[in-house]
Amino acid sequence: MKRALIAASIACLTAMGLSFELIGAPSAEKGAAAKKEVTAEKAVSSAQRQSRGAYLAQAGNCMGCHTAQGGRLYAGGRSLSTPFGTFVTPNITPDKATGIGHWTEQDFWKALHEGKSRDGRPLYPSFPYTEYTKITREDSDAIFAHLQTLAPVAQHNPPSKINFPYNFQPLLSLWRAIYFKPGVYQPDTAKSHEWNRGAYLVQGLGHCNACHAQRNPLGAVGDDTLGGGQIMGSNWYAPSLTSSQEAGSAGWPIEEITQLLTTGISPQSATSGPMADVVRQSLQHLSKEDALAMANYLKSLPETSPRVRAAAPVVTGQVKNWFQRGAKLYEKHCQDCHGDSGQGAPGIYPPLAGNRGVTMTPPVNAVRSVLNGGYPPSTAGNPRPYGMPPFAQVLRDDEVAQVLSYIRNAWGNHASLVTTDQVDRSREGSH
Ligand code: HEC
Ligand code: HEC
Ligand code: HEC
Repeated sequence: MKRALIAASIACLTAMGLSFELIGAPSAEKGAAAKKEVTAEKAVSSAQRQSRGAYLAQAGNCMGCHTAQGGRLYAGGRSLSTPFGTFVTPNITPDKATGIGHWTEQDFWKALHEGKSRDGRPLYPSFPYTEYTKITREDSDAIFAHLQTLAPVAQHNPPSKINFPYNFQPLLSLWRAIYFKPGVYQPDTAKSHEWNRGAYLVQGLGHCNACHAQRNPLGAVGDDTLGGGQIMGSNWYAPSLTSSQEAGSAGWPIEEITQLLTTGISPQSATSGPMADVVRQSLQHLSKEDALAMANYLKSLPETSPRVRAAAPVVTGQVKNWFQRGAKLYEKHCQDCHGDSGQGAPGIYPPLAGNRGVTMTPPVNAVRSVLNGGYPPSTAGNPRPYGMPPFAQVLRDDEVAQVLSYIRNAWGNHASLVTTDQVDRSREGSH
């Protein structure tokens, strides 16, 4: 369907190019034929570039941030709350007054590559140009060409509300001088073409590190690339993609990694929350080759030990009692879906036994799943995902802690206990 549309628009553009030439009616027939060919080629290549740009914009999930909930696509206005204030995304449709209709390829490149607006204002890294700087000029131009084909939307968005002292521009310039190094991805010649493609997508367009890394108090990512971290301003933990105890994929078959990335579920787990959005809006649209390249790169990442490792509990009488209550709650509320031994139902309900999303040291995501419920993303490969109901109104904090402590230590799982306090804190900061 999409391919047919692209083919149709190429045909249409080609026809336009030809008819312009006919109006021009040049005298020498041969020259005219040659010119026709060149124009037609130009039209085809610009259509190709635009469709490539559309694909790349999806791989970079530009729309995800630059579209407000229920708002016009790419017209901005989405609020991103962070400890530094609330950033409102700008309109990047080609509207001349409120969007980027006046921008040139060069202005756009400066935004993606250097993190600077058209007027030279340094941009805040809530726009992940710290990752997008790895994008090539060619890809940047293609994305720009695509954005310029969108219908312009005249929409003024409210300004970002940045807290003192972060609203003081020299501080941002200083931050950039310390933490930001512009630079296009440099292929590692010792590695395969496929590996480099995966690295380019993960490190650049996919901006995985924007979530999957620990940030310092100034919001900068340290050297622990893809080492996992709490997402700023939200109560989600993006697990380490380099640790076998969290979401490292070294031990996974390639097919299961691509399945997780492009459908949102795999035999071992299901994506949820912000990751489900990433899969739905971006990763499910990757071509087969690109998904495979990404999976190969992720699989090749060297193992690092998790930053925080909490030991499984020593089973005292009190702990035993806690587990027994947890087991009862599990039987009553969870077993129907997740199975009597935590095995889940393949493709429908994720297993809890052996699921690292359940056992990883920071329990926030598991607590969230139980309190708020959730859905894996709806994708072409899993169009009608089964959901999990919220238990916030059904279970008390101590009960949520009991059932989670139990599933973190049943069926061969081993992880620290979840405390009532941890559940309580999640309820407060649930967004
Ligand atoms: C995580 C959210 C996020 C994603 C993903 C994102 N942006 Fe943005 N973008 C922002 C925010 C926030 C700003 C405003 C930053 C500021 O005002 O300092 C911004 C600013 C921009 C600007 C500068 C606009 C101006 O008027 O100065 C451009 C251009 C832009 N983004 C393009 C893109 C493109 C292209 C992509 C995808 C490759 C993308 N963005 C993905 C959040 C995002
Ligand atoms: C907007 C933040 C965000 C971005 C961007 C992001 N992730 Fe995630 N990711 C998360 C969160 C939060 C989780 C934990 C929830 C879950 O397991 O689904 C997660 C989980 C995962 C998991 C484990 C999923 C599972 O269920 O086992 C993998 C693998 C992963 N991400 C890979 C990636 C890759 C590769 C990219 C870049 C292409 C990426 N993520 C970009 C937030 C993000
Ligand atoms: C109606 C079926 C259903 C019931 C009942 C149910 N779940 Fe779930 N559960 C799911 C589905 C579907 C998902 C995937 C949700 C997502 O991706 O956001 C899930 C996800 C989870 C996760 C996250 C797993 C991961 O891969 O990250 C945990 C933890 C969990 N459930 C625990 C429980 C507990 C504890 C109970 C009982 C209190 C329970 N569930 C009851 C269907 C159910």
